[in-house]
Amino acid sequence: MSKTVATRPQIGIGGCRVSESAKRLVMEVLDSNRLSAGPMIDRFEREIAGLHDRRFGLFTNSGTSALQIALAALKERFGWQDGDEVLVPALTFVATSNVVLYNGLTPVFVDVEPDKYCIDPAQIEQHITPRTRAIMPVHIAGLPCDMDPVLEIASRHGLRVVEDSAESMFVRYRGRPVGSMSDIGCFSTYVAHIITTGVGGFCVTDDTELIVSLKSLMNHGRDSIYTRIDDDAGREGQALFDIADRRFSFVRLGYSYRCTEMEAALGLAQLETREADWQRRQVIARRLCAGLAPLADQLQLPVERDGAEHAWMFFPLVLRGETIPRSAIIQYLEDHQIETRYLLPLLNQPIYRQLFGDLDSRYPVAARLNRRAFYIGCHAGMTDEEVDHILDCFHSFFRNNA
Ligand SMILES: Cc1ncc(COP(=O)(O)O)c(C=O)c1O
Repeated sequence: MSKTVATRPQIGIGGCRVSESAKRLVMEVLDSNRLSAGPMIDRFEREIAGLHDRRFGLFTNSGTSALQIALAALKERFGWQDGDEVLVPALTFVATSNVVLYNGLTPVFVDVEPDKYCIDPAQIEQHITPRTRAIMPVHIAGLPCDMDPVLEIASRHGLRVVEDSAESMFVRYRGRPVGSMSDIGCFSTYVAHIITTGVGGFCVTDDTELIVSLKSLMNHGRDSIYTRIDDDAGREGQALFDIADRRFSFVRLGYSYRCTEMEAALGLAQLETREADWQRRQVIARRLCAGLAPLADQLQLPVERDGAEHAWMFFPLVLRGETIPRSAIIQYLEDHQIETRYLLPLLNQPIYRQLFGDLDSRYPVAARLNRRAFYIGCHAGMTDEEVDHILDCFHSFFRNNA
């Protein structure tokens, strides 16, 4: 067995720098003795909602929990039945589809665009049945989906839309921010995402009824009169008693999906540098695209969408042809300290094969990507020297495997 000696730190698919400002804000939280939802979370929610042109934001403990309660709130509001169907892309992180199952609903897969990897609007309608209730487009790798046709189909068929924007924040599609084009937009702030709070996620919406249900759902299904410990602040007399009387009133089956003031503090600090971080991701993506362009016969490079910005959460690549095994390039990159991931395989995963059987022939684009696609990092923590190293490695790999 060959053993590779690491000569440089690994170039990760994500990076995280805890700034002085983050440390200061976290210390502020610790000094305040207020760890559960308080002023930091309030501010973080307002800022994230505002940056996405939304009225309301809700900070949850993961992107998955945000997506799960988004579907739960819509199921309750529109009276969906168990087994009703939700359209999800055939290529996405497993959580998009898992949350459909958690809600007793049925995921129905739609194949993806061969060059941009987002749900293919041209293939949505063939999967709509009388039981279809919603579409969950996913902005893959930071690239917004082609939302106009998705929204047009949803509106024509009376379907709700939840944007899984776990991999994209702040960027716009035809002038509208990701997360703002649906009933509920959801983000993730897990490590290696556009901003990171360690763990965390977000729901954003404009709907006053939905935000009430979402708050309740993430708080054990509590009566909306009291979902945070400040909800009784400044109350007295009958108003205070009404809250005291219903503090332990649970009106729906809910979950415990709260997070702490410290995560919000980390998130607020990252908002200070989000513009500069985004610019740096653009620079790195452009350098990777330009440097890999001579290899375009062997490697399918990522493309942008007309009228849309790209958040570049990571840098997806697909091996063209069938001659070079994907394992060979993955092994080579990993041996050279370049971290990789396969590009969001879903239908070929053991649990999905167990649940749905072999769907490859029905989803040929996803099936090909599951065999040939992968991604590497594209984040603000990467240095120019690291980008040069990545480019050198790709060129030397293809020289040796021509
Ligand atoms: C498309 C997509 N949806 C959902 C999630 C789940 O987010 P979290 O890991 O915060 O639960 C992720 C996480 O990587 C994701 O990429």
